[in-house]
Amino acid sequence: MDAIEITGGRPLSGEVQVSGSKNATLPQIAAALLAPGRSTFRGVPDLADIRTLGKLLGHMGARVERDGATVYVDADRVANPEAPYEMVKTMRASVLVLGPLVARFGRARVSLPGGCAIGARPIDQHLKGLQLLGAKIDLAHGYVEAQAARLRGATILFDLPTVTGTENLMMAAALAEGRTVLENCAREPEVAALADALNAMGARIQGAGSSVVTIDGVNSLRPMDIQVIPDRIEAGTLLAAAMITGGDVVVRGARPEDLDGALAKMREAGARISAERGGLRIVAPERPDAVDFITAPFPGFPTDLQAQLMACLTVARGASRVVETVFENRFMHVQELVRMGADIAVDGHTAVVRGVARLSGAPVMATDLRASASLVLAGLRAEGKTKVHRVYHLDRGYESLEKKLAALGANVRRVKGALA
Ligand code: EPZ
Repeated sequence: MDAIEITGGRPLSGEVQVSGSKNATLPQIAAALLAPGRSTFRGVPDLADIRTLGKLLGHMGARVERDGATVYVDADRVANPEAPYEMVKTMRASVLVLGPLVARFGRARVSLPGGCAIGARPIDQHLKGLQLLGAKIDLAHGYVEAQAARLRGATILFDLPTVTGTENLMMAAALAEGRTVLENCAREPEVAALADALNAMGARIQGAGSSVVTIDGVNSLRPMDIQVIPDRIEAGTLLAAAMITGGDVVVRGARPEDLDGALAKMREAGARISAERGGLRIVAPERPDAVDFITAPFPGFPTDLQAQLMACLTVARGASRVVETVFENRFMHVQELVRMGADIAVDGHTAVVRGVARLSGAPVMATDLRASASLVLAGLRAEGKTKVHRVYHLDRGYESLEKKLAALGANVRRVKGALA
């Protein structure tokens, strides 16, 4: 397994381009299942999770090809609408094939994703919605079996805003008979991007990005040809890298409207952030100011940036309170940061981070995608060498992060085949 080796202490400077969004691409590629013919996706990041979904669609009989940053998905022939356990367990977003498969083929057999490192992450809202659309849902042997001759529009009120739940049901309702109204929807930019893609296929969706989405079902859809939106979480991670090193960086492609909650807190922590050169420029103080934050559904502070901002706050002036409300176990980076000299106390969903003057490099272990990013960030600040092991977690959601950081002046390299 590879590792990432960092020698910290250099303020980052320069300009970096954000890649396409992982969490926008995954539902959009799943949506290709809704139409016969070949869909085209431009600006697709080369990530492990994207490859996993491509393999899953290939397993079903779709043809998936990549030419540079363009991915083609031909869903003409999908012989078996099934997502097997061994594929779903490596990437829970595979559950996004459920809605499209039932809508187009009238049946689907998808492995229940099971828990993951950051929490139980049930899909009860996905299943409740499909039942309300008329699907017959059976749970057996760890699989969801869904069947429906033709889905029928319905009003669905989510118990809580769920990103992939909203996405799955938007896709299912696109081919249902009549009108579906989804209420208490997730408002993340990736949901709006999926609606744009579905409308490009001929769907009739309004309101995506707000908490009420209306879908008027159509009888058939055509392939799409779309450009993937920039990855706001990668953008936020790169901004945090500038913050933790007291740097001056332009993140090209970052869209301010996608990061309201995160930018507000970074500014409160003393960073100057302005729209410049088709992206965002951040000029950070040598040490950030302490700031309290709580994660919440969009437009609140994104849970996917919690570990990264926490890393910055380990060297802040003062103490910060961090509350994680979205997932039940998303503080696994804390103990590794403590091994690097951070002073963090966790009590349930709350972590109190007391800023220290310096961190010291250490061998650390990545446990999940965003935790591994926060350890890399801490290594950029720490004195001496940090070695982040199990960076396959990082490769799920970041395209060559170490190369991007090196181009900004960081002393960082990937070590092939390091010990586990
Ligand atoms: C999406 O996951 C993202 N993944 C996650 O990003 C992100 O952290 C999360 O949204 C929250 O923003 C993709 O888009 C592929 P949810 P998702 O359903 O859809 C509970 C990353 O790092 N819930 O919005 O699975 C759930 O347990 C990943 O890129 C139910 O109870 O998240 C959680 O507490 C990690 N029942 C909360 O809702 C359900 O049926 C929000 O989950 C569905 C969700």
